[in-house]
Amino acid sequence: MAQILPSIFGADIMHLQDEIDFLEREQTKLLHVDLMDGNFVSNIAFGPNQIAEMKQHSKMLFDVHMMVDHPLDHLDDVIATGAEMISVHYESTPHVHSMLQKIRKAGRKAGVVINPGTPEAVLEYLIDEIDYILIMTINPGQPGQTFIRKSLEKIRNTKKMIGDRKIQIEVDGGVDREIAMECDAAGAELIVVGGALFSGNKEEQYKALKDAVK
Ligand code: DX5
Ligand code: ZN
Repeated sequence: MAQILPSIFGADIMHLQDEIDFLEREQTKLLHVDLMDGNFVSNIAFGPNQIAEMKQHSKMLFDVHMMVDHPLDHLDDVIATGAEMISVHYESTPHVHSMLQKIRKAGRKAGVVINPGTPEAVLEYLIDEIDYILIMTINPGQPGQTFIRKSLEKIRNTKKMIGDRKIQIEVDGGVDREIAMECDAAGAELIVVGGALFSGNKEEQYKALKDAVK
């Protein structure tokens, strides 16, 4: 059974507290929060201070997706937000292994993110330092993109590579109800949804998404 993780990047920024309250009423346990620096990706989104503020006004666990160059320079600030899960892009630093060790040392779950063009095989020598693998199913940075179907093969291959280890697969980008079902079937356990949840009737869409991966 997979879990839907709302991505706060897709929420209505003018009514952020209402959106957080809605997600809590819906019993959301985990919130996906994007951190973008305008360099690693062109967009700029939630900085550590804003994430810390959101966290103080929420009971949910936070999964922070770092899309930044030089992630080590920002790690202490991200840890200070209180986020329970922190992921770093494989492509963003030559020192992913060290980043993962630092995240775990701070008592948080450590994730590695791979872009659509990055093969899962790069994770082979990192595998014992990883709590979750985030497979990008779009190119990161912009909302409203189409799910890259080749990702389903990557999810299946990653699942094989993980074997018996307790590592979860997360997917992010372009996911709607049908695609959530396909990702679940392929082996993803954490399914991030932005636009397909927050645009239109949120209550109905959230229910449909949750039912799809039950
Ligand atoms: C994009 C972000 C996603 C984004 C997903 O780079 O990492 O978390 O919010 O949005 P959708 O689900 O609309 O593609
Ligand atoms: Zn994300």
